[in-house]
Amino acid sequence: MSSEGERSEASDRAGSKATRENGRDGGDGDHVSAGDGKFGRYGGQYVPEALMPAIGELTDAYERYVLNNEGGFMDEFRRRIREFGGRPTPLQRADRLSERYDTEVYLKREDLLHGGAHKLNNALGQVLLAKYMGKERIIAETGAGQHGTATAMAAAHLDMPCEVYMGERDINRQRPNVFRMKINGSAVTPVTTGRGTLKEAISETMRDWATNVEDTHYVIGSVVGPHPFPRMVRDFQSLISEEAREQIVDRTGALPDSVVACAGGGSNTMGTFHNFIGDEAVDLFAVEAGGSSLAVDAEEGVAPNSASLSTGSEGVLHGARTKLLQDHDGQIVESHSVSSGLDYAGVGPELAHLVDEGRVTPVNVDDDAALEGFHRLSQEEGIIPALETAHAFGYLHEHHDELGDVTVINVSGRGDKDLDTAIEETTKRDIPNAPDMSMFEGGLR
Ligand SMILES: Cc1ncc(COP(=O)(O)O)c(C=O)c1O
Repeated sequence: MSSEGERSEASDRAGSKATRENGRDGGDGDHVSAGDGKFGRYGGQYVPEALMPAIGELTDAYERYVLNNEGGFMDEFRRRIREFGGRPTPLQRADRLSERYDTEVYLKREDLLHGGAHKLNNALGQVLLAKYMGKERIIAETGAGQHGTATAMAAAHLDMPCEVYMGERDINRQRPNVFRMKINGSAVTPVTTGRGTLKEAISETMRDWATNVEDTHYVIGSVVGPHPFPRMVRDFQSLISEEAREQIVDRTGALPDSVVACAGGGSNTMGTFHNFIGDEAVDLFAVEAGGSSLAVDAEEGVAPNSASLSTGSEGVLHGARTKLLQDHDGQIVESHSVSSGLDYAGVGPELAHLVDEGRVTPVNVDDDAALEGFHRLSQEEGIIPALETAHAFGYLHEHHDELGDVTVINVSGRGDKDLDTAIEETTKRDIPNAPDMSMFEGGLR
């Protein structure tokens, strides 16, 4: 346990780190610039000419409203995410897991945010920004449906019409979330191209944006896409680590040894890591979906995983240079994960850079380990996690010896949306800690 002195020193360091990151070097009145959107060799703005005006307008709005709080934008965002969203979310000690692994495990409970996942932090921020920009229509893509749901909720809350593009395959995997979007008054448009998952949904939403740039804002759902999206989404999501850092120091008197979060595009990951990046003693683990195998079948164009940080190579996807699952000709290969929210062939450019720099360690667990993690957290802590989140608990189980004495894990979302998938996937596999599934065999009757 450390003293009050150490505690306030830790908080001070958090403050000065955030200041450095935003490029301020003087007093309070300094203007903060949006920068060029490069993270080392990654990031950038690889978009068709037709989108450049929209990207320019958005970069300007990000700089004015988000970075410089013009018109009190950030004050309104913080008020709304508190009152509508329910922030701050708790940091909870996981008693049973701490005992099981003989290490202190703390859970950052983003599953308790309104809507059941971290996605609202970003969706509310962007829909509010669209209002400040005078836009009249919101579009979004969604994979697991959590971002679509969060955007639909934010759009209803702020009285904006909203259309969500979703791959046909994901619509079938995530029916409750499709209904939630519709209940909130959003249109859901199925995307039938390719495999019908997140990659195709993003491409389709970009096409809509390019056609309707005048009145429409595209609320992208992760730290991906052209600048300023990766940085802006990270900024909205960094409330997670702003709170978690203060909460863990308050609770234990010191910083944690490690911070763990699952990684699809990487928005909960960057949000959970951001305020710890300057704390070199804190190890950061991004847990990707290892799927059924890490091998890539280049001939078939299939990677039975979504581990782009662990196994991908450099290329351009959805407007940014980053790490990707691709074949030798640069064609994006099909990814796979038991969790639709991690099922994406790319990853945010900042994460790719932090991995190259050695600041973030990319790790992965397979579908079975994620399902075991899902059942373990449900049984031992009374928290049913999203299948995306369950990957972080699969990693905790396999590598708790390497995480030090105190670990913070982000519970990025709750698992209600995944119950159908969890029944189906658990029934067809041999998951050692699953409950008796015999009543579900042969399908739900
Ligand atoms: C609960 C949850 N966690 C994690 C993710 C992965 O997204 P990201 O890597 O952007 O946090 C998703 C995506 O839908 C999700 O719903």
